[in-house]
Amino acid sequence: MSNFKHKNMPIKIALFASGSGSNAENIILFFSENPHFEFPIIISNKPDAYVHERAKKLKIPSFTFSRDDFSTGETILAYLKKLNIDCIVLAGFLLKIPQSLIEAYPNKIINIHPALLPRFGGKGMYGSRVHEAVAEAGVSESGITVHYVNNNYDEGNIIFQAKCPVIPTDTPDMIADKVHALEYEHFPKVIEKIWGKGFEF
Ligand code: GRF
Repeated sequence: MSNFKHKNMPIKIALFASGSGSNAENIILFFSENPHFEFPIIISNKPDAYVHERAKKLKIPSFTFSRDDFSTGETILAYLKKLNIDCIVLAGFLLKIPQSLIEAYPNKIINIHPALLPRFGGKGMYGSRVHEAVAEAGVSESGITVHYVNNNYDEGNIIFQAKCPVIPTDTPDMIADKVHALEYEHFPKVIEKIWGKGFEF
């Protein structure tokens, strides 16, 4: 049986982040005046990640789960259910999402990858490694990919891509800056577009 979460009921989103959390902060600020979106929790796998500082500043609780918790997912799932979380947004989250969460949230988990999938994705391709690979490959463009999360790293259905030019003199850091700009511009809008009108779940 399927239920429908009406647009007048806020969608509750858990943000997962492993590092700086600039995307998580940007998303929260984007929706700060929008009553249809709530961000009750930021979840991390690293207690010292800067995202916790951002969470404090934004007055949003943040919580760290251990690697073991992420390997089965059961404890995390129970926690998400307790908070009535509808969807999960991975904003710079590095661990593999456990099968139990993928089953509990079918098509309700999305990720952003800092390159144009299907190239430059897969296990071990994260952070600066992605931009280094792009620079080394000598391609003329990079960009962002927002996609649903399935059992394989970076292989779920693609929802949205945006591109930026890469020139031969660009360093990996320069490419990262261009990609971050695209992330800040588009990621919140993609979330708004896919979940802003309510959904079946
Ligand atoms: C982003 O480039 C994101 O695409 C990637 O990791 C980076 C996270 O940056 N998966 P931040 O933590 O949001 O600042």
